[in-house]
Amino acid sequence: MSTVHVIRHPLVQHKLTMIRDKNTGPKDFRELVDEVSLLMAYEVTRDMPLEEVEVETPICTTKGHTISGKKVGIIPILRAGLGMVNGILRLIPTAKVGHIGLYRDPETLEPVEYYCKLPADVEERELIVIDPMLATGGSAAAAIHYLKKRGAHSIKLMCLLAAPEGIERIQREHPDVEIFTAAVDERLNEHGYIIPGLGDAGDRLFGTK
Ligand code: PRP
Ligand code: URA
Repeated sequence: MSTVHVIRHPLVQHKLTMIRDKNTGPKDFRELVDEVSLLMAYEVTRDMPLEEVEVETPICTTKGHTISGKKVGIIPILRAGLGMVNGILRLIPTAKVGHIGLYRDPETLEPVEYYCKLPADVEERELIVIDPMLATGGSAAAAIHYLKKRGAHSIKLMCLLAAPEGIERIQREHPDVEIFTAAVDERLNEHGYIIPGLGDAGDRLFGTK
């Protein structure tokens, strides 16, 4: 069953509280999502394998470590996942970025796909699927199904907030996918919004409401 990692680092929790605040406007919201994504990426990449290398300092030669040949792919779910891309890229600048466009039908809450562009070698990469919100889990589950159909076998899911319903769905449909989140909230309301949540992540990022 997928492990759920809740990132409880004080900086992440402090910034998450500012993100939740309804008085935080789009500029600060974007900057905070970017910062939290960078901090969370530090935890998500904790198990990256290292190899020993020689390095010449100005004084002498010594042994050091570099990340061993792992190719990373960052997969934002459009559109709110876009807000998390740059923070992660600052830590892993060589990662390739693949986009999956999904929106939730407001009536059925089922994901509808409208765009997909992935790195050609997606099946060889360690993938991090990113979306600020894991609500019913429909969007993330569909994106992961799609990636698996394209041959991907190493996938992690990173979100800012997760509802128990979304976690259960990922654990049921994708027990091999580890989930990283800054908080597990109480539940969903009748419109599929996370309670207490942060509202509509896409609208708050891009100022569309
Ligand atoms: C939001 C969010 C997730 C999805 C989560 O996107 O960014 O993709 O809802 O809900 P789920 O877990 O129930 O699928 P939305 O559909 O609002 O589209 P947007 O990012 O374009 O605003
Ligand atoms: N999508 C959002 O943007 N917010 C929620 O609370 C649930 C889904």
